[in-house]
Amino acid sequence: MRTHYCGFVNTDHIDSIVNLCGWAHRRRDHGGVIFIDLRDREGTVQVVIDPDTPEAFKLAEETRSEFVLRVVGKVRARPAGTENPNLPTGMIEVLTQTLEILNPSLTPPFQIDDDNINENIRLQYRYLDLRREPMQKNLRLRYRVSKLMRDYLDSHGFLEIETPMLTRSTPEGARDYLVPSRVHDGMFYALPQSPQLFQQLLMVAGYDRYFQLTKCFRDEDLRADRQPEFTQVDLETSFMGEEEIMNLVEGMIRDMMFKAQGTELPAAFPRMTFHEAMNRYGSDKPDMRVTLEITECTDAMKEVAFKVFSGPANDPKGRVAALRVPGGAALSRGEIDGYTEFVKIYGAKGLAYIKVNDISQLNEAGLQSPIVKNLSETALKAVIERTGAQNGDIVFFGADKAKVVNDALGALRLKIGHEKGHVDGRAWAPLWVVDFPMFEYNEDPETKLSRWDALHHPFTAPKDGHEEYLATDPGKALSKAYDMVLNGWEVGGGSVRIHRQEVQEKVFAALNIGEEERREKFGFLLDALQYGAPPHGGLAFGLDRLVTLMTGAESIRDVIAFPKTQRASCLMTSAPNVVDEKQLRELHIRLRNTAAVVPGA
Ligand code: AMO
Ligand code: AMP
Repeated sequence: MRTHYCGFVNTDHIDSIVNLCGWAHRRRDHGGVIFIDLRDREGTVQVVIDPDTPEAFKLAEETRSEFVLRVVGKVRARPAGTENPNLPTGMIEVLTQTLEILNPSLTPPFQIDDDNINENIRLQYRYLDLRREPMQKNLRLRYRVSKLMRDYLDSHGFLEIETPMLTRSTPEGARDYLVPSRVHDGMFYALPQSPQLFQQLLMVAGYDRYFQLTKCFRDEDLRADRQPEFTQVDLETSFMGEEEIMNLVEGMIRDMMFKAQGTELPAAFPRMTFHEAMNRYGSDKPDMRVTLEITECTDAMKEVAFKVFSGPANDPKGRVAALRVPGGAALSRGEIDGYTEFVKIYGAKGLAYIKVNDISQLNEAGLQSPIVKNLSETALKAVIERTGAQNGDIVFFGADKAKVVNDALGALRLKIGHEKGHVDGRAWAPLWVVDFPMFEYNEDPETKLSRWDALHHPFTAPKDGHEEYLATDPGKALSKAYDMVLNGWEVGGGSVRIHRQEVQEKVFAALNIGEEERREKFGFLLDALQYGAPPHGGLAFGLDRLVTLMTGAESIRDVIAFPKTQRASCLMTSAPNVVDEKQLRELHIRLRNTAAVVPGA
């Protein structure tokens, strides 16, 4: 049917006959001659239809956008002055001998070359949206990235092994998607939130190095970088420590990004402890391109008259911190009000600030601010010294529970940094965040009781020497977990695992997971750990996130062929949807909410 892709026809083919198949991208009727830009996945080529070929001409007149055509014609150089050097096929055109309409098309709901289309329409007609060049580029890059990562892992002795989709709940911290069992009345499978337990069991089983590109399912609140089903490049290896695993996967990302798009990442990614990341950037995934930093002021505010600061400064869970913005004294009242509203999204109650006009006068004469009169000179001196503020700067403050301050100032740092150009100009800033705490202290939303939760997951090994804290002081225990951060996105995370049953039991005890629950949920893992489990560890990359960063897309939906909306539905297939009564009966299910209309009910 076809001899060449449209996008590949070039001056080498002049005078040859080509058979092309594709879609009518654009048609121009120049009275007498018709031009059609014929498009396939490799690009477009200009096809000319002359009235000298009356049959072809008649069909060309009938052709509309997105008709599928087959064209047999002769390649010729474009007449002088009509070349388009910006287009790979811009020096030639194809003079049609025969034209066939292989299939007409309805008028598409949008122009395929439009790049300002409502996203809901794009998702509803995803098969048309996917015809668009940016989407084709994204999905090609996605394929290339997966291929390169597979090749790297293959060359390092990893075996790709599939694990079940119909399984039990995996404790990655999100809500499970459940699948009712027909055979077992009242029972459910859970779709995996990750292959975590299976990848560990494969190490017990002696496979030594495993990987998988696999779908994971998490029923959580969606954001721009989250999908209910997403793809992990998941890997696990035996007999390797933290450093070795980090070096190995760092090598994979460096190799992949270089081969995929020529990106040169630094020879060794910088490392930062979780503690430092939270203190200096208010985030466990800091965007290191932004040059602004958060400064600790808690200890300096304990005695000040300003209650908004001294309160949190004296609260063991509180924090007072500053964000210095060089040149920020020029910010307008309106801009500051805007930032104040912005931090409220993160729970902040306000956004105190000091405009630094003259650091030689640490009072209302030199510092322009509604709060200066309530701060002691010692406190002001500490702020100016620690932030390194200069005349012309502004210093913002957050005072609240540490979490609120970190979230608010961390987000403000990114916003102002990118808006006002406080960035270092690097295209890529990779970072390892290490030494995560084992646990975080949370309030159970139902019982309102505080409890320790695993920060990563309960199979993460404590750092050497930290095992003793599991029973005595869980908050102090650090773990062998590591996250890879790229431009402020967490692109991958993993850990060295616990391979001894008695350590695993201690972690469950710290998490207050009782004997019965342990047996019930993880009995098979605890058993397996007793049959000679090797030391092992691994990591999973979020493929969708990596590719999103590499394409520069705004949302991970743009690198997934058939994604879900923010409300976890598919606008094209209308999933999720009601099912008929017979199916429900087979599954032993009666709906509580009769508002859903069930056909045949
Ligand atoms: P974690 O939960 O950190 O670790 O997930 C690994 C990586 O997957 C990506 N990711 C997501 N991407 C898109 N949408 C989501 N909803 C989503 N959730 C996570 C992130 C993240 O870094 N079993 C462990 C890994 C391990 O310990 O080996 C795990 O799943 O990029
Ligand atoms: P007030 O005394 O409430 O008028 O607040 C004085 C300044 O402190 C204002 O600029 C508020 O935006 C700011 N502010 C109030 N609460 C906080 C807080 N928790 N953290 C930081 N700044 C705050």
